[in-house]
Parts: sequence; structure tokens; C-alpha cells
Amino acid sequence: MVKIAPSLLSADFTRLDREIESIKSCDLLHFDVMDGVFVPNISFGLPVLRAVRGVTALPLDVHLMITRPIRFVERFCELGADIVTFHVEADEPENIRGALLKIRALGKKAGLSVKPATPVSAVEPYADLLDNILIMAVEPGFGGQSFMTAALDKISAASALVSRLGTGCDVEVDGGVNRETARLCREAGATVLVAGSDVFRAPDRRAEIEFLRGQL
Ligand code: DX5
Ligand code: ZN
Repeated sequence: MVKIAPSLLSADFTRLDREIESIKSCDLLHFDVMDGVFVPNISFGLPVLRAVRGVTALPLDVHLMITRPIRFVERFCELGADIVTFHVEADEPENIRGALLKIRALGKKAGLSVKPATPVSAVEPYADLLDNILIMAVEPGFGGQSFMTAALDKISAASALVSRLGTGCDVEVDGGVNRETARLCREAGATVLVAGSDVFRAPDRRAEIEFLRGQL
């Protein structure tokens, strides 16, 4: 079954422990880190990850929207990330490979993300090191944007790549996921759905997670 990863970016930051408790039926907690350089916004970082790690046993799915992620991946792993995914556009090939190796050396899962304008083929050179391919269905930087349907073909392409490799790598989609687009993403072969505003705005978050899974 598809895994659901609510994005904490849409939570009420003044009561994070209760917000996390309210979505505990999910599979992963998605943690968006923005540096104001790679994307035109700043979110939260290492101290907040440490605090979140202290109040939940859920796997932490860290999405780094930062330049030169190789500088920080080890610290995110040490503070409790289970999966660290960063952008293939964020550095030179040598450092992209180096960062993936650092994450894996610490026993964590490593992933690469592609922005809407970047083809899935950009991650192929690193396929041997990937546990996750993250397809952005919006321009990274903000929650609450509309799903770009062009992401569906990219999900299919990533899914085909993963089948070809036979490595069991996840295909994750992020941005504009709601009940309707979730269904399209599942049909296209996504294995992890990130949802921020859809889950946190829902009156019944547990039920919303089931809807996104296609179980209601
Ligand atoms: C956007 C972030 C997303 C965001 C998704 O840059 O990477 O994870 O929180 O929010 P929604 O689900 O509201 O589009
Ligand atoms: Zn994200």
C-alpha cells in the first residue's frame, strides 16, 4: 500500500507535539528544510528536527531544499532523520554522489528530488545509491500550491526506472496532493505521497490519511 507522509510545514508550530500526535496513523513524517537560497523561503532546520525526534517514533522523511546539501546531510542523519532526500539541482555531480554516500554510510536512506523542470533522467547516474526518488509536483518553497499534472508522467518514468533497476527504491510525490491527485499519483506508480495542507486542514486527519491511501 502507498505510504502517506504529512508535511509538517502545514502544522501549527506553536503546538507541534499535539500536531504530530494528531497524524500518528501516517507512515512517515515529512520535514521540509528551506534555506532561502535554493528556494525563495526559509522554514526550519536542525534544532527543530532534534525536538521533533524527541516526541515521535515515526520515521522522519527529511526533504532538503538547500544549496550544497553535502555540508549538512550528516548532521541531519545524526539528529534523527531516517530518510534524507535532497535536490539533484543543488550541487555538482561529484558532491551529489558524495552526499548520497555520506547518508548511506550512516545507515540512513538516501534520496534525490527533481524540480518540475528537471527530467527524471537527471537522477539516473545515481540510481545505484538511491532509496527514494522525489518528484516535485509544484515549485519547491511553499505549501498550498496546485498540483502540476506534468508530474504524473514523471512518476511513471521514475516507477519504470525503479522496476528496471529492481532495487525497491520508493517513488515519492510532493506538492498539491489531495484526494483526487492522490488517486492519479497512485495509479501512476507513486509509493509515497506527501501532503501538507490537505491533511492539516482536514477536520478528521486520520480519515484524510485513509482517503489519501485510497482506503476510504
Ligand atoms: C514544498 C514542500 C512540500 C509542501 C507540500 O516545497 O516541499 O512538502 O509542504 O505542501 P502541500 O501538500 O500543501 O502542497
Ligand atoms: Zn517537501
